[in-house]
Amino acid sequence: MKNFLIVPSILSANFACLGEDISKVISAGIKMIHFDVMDNHYVPNLSVGPLVLKALRDYGVTISIDVHLMARPVDRLILDCVYAGASSISFHPESTDHIDRSLELIKENGCKAGLVFNPGTALGCLEYIINKLDFILLMSVNPGFSGQSFIPIVLNKICQVSNLIKNSGFNIRLAVDGGINIRNISVIAEAGADTFIIGSTIFTASNYRQVINDLYCEINK
Ligand code: DX5
Ligand code: ZN
Repeated sequence: MKNFLIVPSILSANFACLGEDISKVISAGIKMIHFDVMDNHYVPNLSVGPLVLKALRDYGVTISIDVHLMARPVDRLILDCVYAGASSISFHPESTDHIDRSLELIKENGCKAGLVFNPGTALGCLEYIINKLDFILLMSVNPGFSGQSFIPIVLNKICQVSNLIKNSGFNIRLAVDGGINIRNISVIAEAGADTFIIGSTIFTASNYRQVINDLYCEINK
């Protein structure tokens, strides 16, 4: 059986009490949270950055923090997020001038490295850097906001990347981000995803433990 991982995206959490909200999902068994960094240029929204990341570490969050960069310049933010306490960092290939250099920067600073592909972005560069990736993140919405609907054609892309990973022989996780809910998570898992980044479905639920259990039930049945 695959080692499935549900990763709450804190973009949908209550920012007025972020530490507490994250503690609640940790008590519900979560081992990693997803931290969206948005700059209002690469994506049309502004979120949080290294300061808030460090504040969460100082607050006592010790589980893995997966930083998803939707901001430029990528390389400086990579370093700032490393120092602030990131465990893994991903960025979009078109948001950096040198994909290979940015991946190296993440890895040489002790974090896991991932590349993120928007729904409309081609996978071409994977051929040349797949050996450097710990994970691939496929966006199933256009990045910028939580609460959007899953774009169905991305299911084909998940199958395609899942096969590519199998054929490569590398140990690379396949994550999907955007619009995942209780009704579609099993289809996304069947397509080949093993990591599910989920914002609004978790943080709008009245009982985090219940919704997380229900999501795991759907993918494990
Ligand atoms: C969107 C972010 C996602 C988002 C997911 O740009 O990268 O992580 O928070 O939220 P939902 O699950 O609500 O689509
Ligand atoms: Zn994200």
